[in-house]
Amino acid sequence: MSPRKIIIDTDPGQDDAVAILLALASPEEIDVLGITAVAGNVPLDLTSKNARIVCELAGKPDVPVFAGCDAPLGRALVTAEHVHGRTGLDGPNLPDPTMALQDTHGVDFIIDTLRAHPANTITLCPLGPLTNIATAFERAPDIIEKVQEIVLMGGAYFEVGNMTPTAEFNIYVDPQAADIVFKSGASIVVMPLDVTHKALVTSERNSAFRNLGTPVGTAVAQMTDFFERFDKEKYGSAGAPLHDPCVTAYLIKPDLFSGRCINVEIETQSELTMGMTVADWWRVTDRAPNALFIGDIDADGFFTLLTERLARL
Ligand code: RIB
Ligand code: CA
Repeated sequence: MSPRKIIIDTDPGQDDAVAILLALASPEEIDVLGITAVAGNVPLDLTSKNARIVCELAGKPDVPVFAGCDAPLGRALVTAEHVHGRTGLDGPNLPDPTMALQDTHGVDFIIDTLRAHPANTITLCPLGPLTNIATAFERAPDIIEKVQEIVLMGGAYFEVGNMTPTAEFNIYVDPQAADIVFKSGASIVVMPLDVTHKALVTSERNSAFRNLGTPVGTAVAQMTDFFERFDKEKYGSAGAPLHDPCVTAYLIKPDLFSGRCINVEIETQSELTMGMTVADWWRVTDRAPNALFIGDIDADGFFTLLTERLARL
């Protein structure tokens, strides 16, 4: 089977970095056409720098990286240095990138790529706020029906919010963009906190990264060592939740995951619940299903896959 062509839209972020590394380590299943950075965990100048740092860490400086939108559609940017550190990639001491940022805007790259390829051959993998994706859909509605699938990290239902009592960060930062994407009609797979909070980097799993004895393994161990503080303190978690790598792992081994096709709508009116993913898990409404909402993961299988693939870099 030929590899799936994807665009990774991202706001690195340590977990984004691991998701990118997993994708770049899996050429049999994934062909990364490009990486578009978006403002999210840290501002755009840092997310577009961090994406290149990760590509060079992977030994893949030829992957084109594009800067996308620097602010949400209708709200002030909210960042997450309290989770990811000032640089967004705190933990390891990685060198500044030497590879250049592409001149093309990330939104134009998304539009141009979808227009240049046959329908149902490009998968979009948003790992941050959905600003770039929504902007592309608004500017070029013709591309929506060409999208093979959107596999995104965002939202929460049983786990509720990590930014507010009701909202997960990626959706909370740009709820208007999320509303556009979830109403677009594109085929969507959602990796919410409900599943990502089950993908925890325990000390044993962190040791497995470190014991790879490679720059990638050591850097990932250092990233997750740093990144776990927030969740350990807030939730008493056993380790860092690897939110974004669930997206990449789904492309490689979907049977690690299970969920339901349900209706998911985004709160965009009330400040109290702004950015909530209103997931009709129990199908109590007549609202049409618009997403595969993932609720469970084979965590041991996920970490075995991740560690094996990281060992390749
Ligand atoms: O809520 C977790 C999500 O927000 C992850 O994608 C993390 O990288 C941040 O972007
Ligand atoms: Ca992210």
